[in-house]
This record gives sequence, structure tokens and C-alpha cells, in this order.
Amino acid sequence: MTVPGLSAAQALRQAIPRLVAAGVPDAAADARRLLAHAMDLAPGRLTLHLPDALSPAAAAAFDRLVAARATRAPVSHLTGTRAFWGRDFAVTPDVLDPRPETEVLVAAALAHTFARVLDLGTGSGCILLTLLAERPDATGLGTDASRAAIAVAQANAVALGLTARAAFAVTDWAQGVTGPFDLIVANPPYIALAELPALSPEVRDHEPRIALTDGGDGLGAYRAILRHPLPFGPRGRLLMEVGPTQGRAVAALMAAAGLTAIMTLPDLDGRDRVVTGVAPLSSPDHHQGRQVHGRESTT
Ligand SMILES: C[S@@+](CC[C@H](N)C(=O)[O-])C[C@H]1O[C@@H](n2cnc3c(N)ncnc32)[C@H](O)[C@@H]1O
Repeated sequence: MTVPGLSAAQALRQAIPRLVAAGVPDAAADARRLLAHAMDLAPGRLTLHLPDALSPAAAAAFDRLVAARATRAPVSHLTGTRAFWGRDFAVTPDVLDPRPETEVLVAAALAHTFARVLDLGTGSGCILLTLLAERPDATGLGTDASRAAIAVAQANAVALGLTARAAFAVTDWAQGVTGPFDLIVANPPYIALAELPALSPEVRDHEPRIALTDGGDGLGAYRAILRHPLPFGPRGRLLMEVGPTQGRAVAALMAAAGLTAIMTLPDLDGRDRVVTGVAPLSSPDHHQGRQVHGRESTT
């Protein structure tokens, strides 16, 4: 119990052992992040305020946050945000917590020019909205099978002032999407069902299952995405994030789908992280069923 009147430093010293006892991997850093949130401070300013007495409201908020973190709820769910490529994204239990590894895909996408981008499985919108924020003339569409995820992405587009250039649609990957796009990106759910039990409680028990796994061998989403021609413009690029053991298999799926110039890019740890390919010149602009141009969810 965090008692009002304690200094922030004392509250921190009490909280860290609670988190350590709950098995939280980086207990001290998380306690600091949560205390800053409870005190309504930017995390970088906490040290300055460690001697301050906690207000009753801050003490109660910190107590609730530490108790929730001890159940292994992710820090991003408790603070409501996650930093990605230098911007804060709203995060809820309906979306994948944006991962630093995904910045590899963003960096690779930004290495080329593009005007129109399609983000399959947009989740929080972190990839699409980052690309649009970095390329002020580009427009884009993010799709997701989860209506709740699309609502989070739309809220992030509003917060980042990108609604004029970002559209969203609830659909199955690129189904019904009208091109052409010169860049298509995806970070699909790539964890195999059999790998789920070994994940940390933060991921396994708190992140949406649809964002984590295809329910099979981990390659099902790639097969589904590549099953039909994608709405590429001529020489459009495809970039997909992969799990560290999936680079070869995804590259083979891309080759079988007719993509060329296929390359696998590593993350900062040297593990396969992104597979890229280029659409053939004569790539058909694929339309299947209803068409999705959407600024709003469409199903
Ligand atoms: C690994 S998360 C990636 C989220 C976000 N793009 C990111 O990088 O943080 C995969 C996303 O794919 C979505 N998804 C799963 N199956 C889908 C499908 N059949 N069609 C469209 N999106 C799907 C999930 O809802 C989830 O938002």
C-alpha cells in the first residue's frame, strides 16, 4: 500500500520489491515509468521530483498501477501509450503493443520513395501512421480484421493530425481493397500456436490473440496475404515483418506469388526480421468482391 505523504523515492523503494516478487523482468524501470505516470510527469522528469511528497491522488494511482503491473499487465496498457519511431501511440488491449523490431520495417520502407501505402493488419496504426508522418505527401490505407483495432488506429490518426491522409477499413487483409499502391507493408501475426504457452504473461495473457498467432504454424497469415494478387502499382514494393526463423519460408512464399528482387533484412540483433519483394511490371491490380476505399470501417 502506497501511503500519501511518502516521498516519491520512498514509494518507489516500496514498489520495486512488489514487482520483483511478481516476476516482472525490469521491475525498477517499470516502477519509475508507472510512478511518473501516476504523478503526471514526463518520464524523464521523475528524478527531479523524487524528493517530493506524493499527493493522495498520486499515491492511490501509483498503488493501483503497481498492483496491476504485478498481475503482469503490460506497462503500455497501464499508461495507455507506447513510443514508436519517436511518436506516442495510444495502445489498448485490442491492439498489439508496437515493438521496437517493427522499426526495422519502417526504416526499410523509408529507404525508398512512395506515394500511396497499404498497411495490412494495421493494429494501432503505428506502421502506416509513422510512414505518413515521415512522408508528408503520401496517403495510405490501413486494414484490420479487428474493428476494435481499427478504432484505436483511427484515434491515433486523429492525435497525430493525419486523418486527411490516412484511411482505414475493417477487412480480411487486402480483400476488396482498390489499388494501386506503390508500397504494401504488413506485420502479420506470426507466432505458431505451439509457441504461445512459452510467451511472457504480458504477451500471452494481455495482448489480442488475433494479433499474435495464426492458430497454426505461424505462416498462415503470409499464405493468406499472398494467396491472391495484391493491389500493387507497377514495381510496387512489399515489406513483411517475420519471426526470426521464418525468413526463408516467407521469401519462398513471395517468390511463388511472383514477386521479384526478394531480400531478407536483419534486425539489430542480426536476426531475420523483414522480407521484401518487388511486384512484377505487369502486376494486376487485384479486386475481389466488394471494394474498399474506406475512410471509415466498412463491414
Ligand atoms: C502482429 S499485429 C501488427 C499490428 C501493427 N501493424 C504493428 O505492427 O504493431 C497483427 C495485426 O493483424 C491483424 N489481423 C489478424 N488477422 C487478420 C486478417 N485476417 N485480416 C486483417 N488483419 C488481421 C490483427 O488484428 C493485428 O492488428
